[in-house]
Amino acid sequence: MKILVVGTGAREHAICESLKDEAELYSIMSNQNPGIARISDFKVASEGDLEIVKKFAIEKNVDMAFIGPESPLEKGIVDELEGAGISCVGPNQQAARIETDKSFMRDLFEEHKIPGSLVYRVFDNYQDISDFLDDFDKDVVIKPVGLTGGKGVKIVGDHLKDNSEAKEYAKHVMDTKMGGYPRVVIEERLIGEEFTVQAFSDGKNLVPMPAVQDHPHAFEGDQGPITGGMGSYSDKNGLLPFLSQKEYNSAVKIMQETIGAINKEVGPYKGILYGQFMLCKEGPRLVEYNARFGDPEAMNVLPLLKTSMVNICQGIVDGNLKKAEFEEKATVCKYIVPDGYPETKFANQPIYVDETTISNTGADVFYAAVNQKEDNIFTSSSRALGVVASAETISEAEKICENATKFVKGDLYHRKDVGTHEIIQKRMNHMNKIRGN
Ligand code: GLY
Repeated sequence: MKILVVGTGAREHAICESLKDEAELYSIMSNQNPGIARISDFKVASEGDLEIVKKFAIEKNVDMAFIGPESPLEKGIVDELEGAGISCVGPNQQAARIETDKSFMRDLFEEHKIPGSLVYRVFDNYQDISDFLDDFDKDVVIKPVGLTGGKGVKIVGDHLKDNSEAKEYAKHVMDTKMGGYPRVVIEERLIGEEFTVQAFSDGKNLVPMPAVQDHPHAFEGDQGPITGGMGSYSDKNGLLPFLSQKEYNSAVKIMQETIGAINKEVGPYKGILYGQFMLCKEGPRLVEYNARFGDPEAMNVLPLLKTSMVNICQGIVDGNLKKAEFEEKATVCKYIVPDGYPETKFANQPIYVDETTISNTGADVFYAAVNQKEDNIFTSSSRALGVVASAETISEAEKICENATKFVKGDLYHRKDVGTHEIIQKRMNHMNKIRGN
């Protein structure tokens, strides 16, 4: 089978690795990712240019396309490719609104009485924001309605001092049309531990994957700005040290009800559904959905997949998705980023990745926003590569992963604390306190 993977990052590299033994791979990427380039017939072009993607897919006569990132989904790449007779793993433009339009997502919860929602309001007028915040006695989260790569979200008690700073930031979001619209979602701030559940969906059947916890803050100790994610871990039993089976099942039930509701509103959701949850005292509540794999979270789950990924993709497209089995192993992923990230001033620096030694240490490399020029690899303004290890315990996987990071050289940084005993204990203590234990 010929499969086109659209996207440039480590998430797409992990998707390609999961398909490569069974499929002839094609790819469209905006930089030359060395990991994807060596296992696919590729074209360097904007993955958001639907005409280019469609032309390439037709020219190569692909049977199926797997859409990695959200921005082509927002533009309607699936509608475009399906119109040309190419099946897709990824939701169509309307179904992708679960990620691309936060007011659609929250309204869906309300109208279909899906559990796990929160207090929210959508605004397009500053006076209404000001009146709402004057009366609201809890801390809030400010989100642009459209896509900002996770970087437009600001939280009172974290990046914003109080609800009065929240007002100023909301005005800035509206004035600058951040995320593409002069609209803002204001949500109550949830207190708890965040976790991710990703699932395959054929529009009816939802097949969940092991839970993962990402680390969005740029610096160690959960300090600094929110990024696309600095690293993540998962546990052998598919749960997390602070997350019970019952709580995981509640999250999956919320996702199952969500695809049922999307089906009723706009038709079947076919692709990957990413649920980001906050585990609160009363159980999981939905922070947001993504219409794609998480990055880095794809790198935790895909290397453990035992079921054929090509069969899973076919099941998604045909609407007869069955179970997916994963190796029972813990994983740790650490993202290596340019020094100074998320500032962009340190781009275009050479990096040196000793893949042979990394592989001998038992870890894997997934390349992200780097650019290969002849035999050299250069950073861009975003995350450079993920190093991933799996083992019997999170602690063992963390040690393998940390050791492997030594074999990547350049003006680079990574969070050494991802997956360590200390940070996991901190998460567990936090959750115990919230539960009143
Ligand atoms: N890990 C966050 C995201 O994929 O959006």
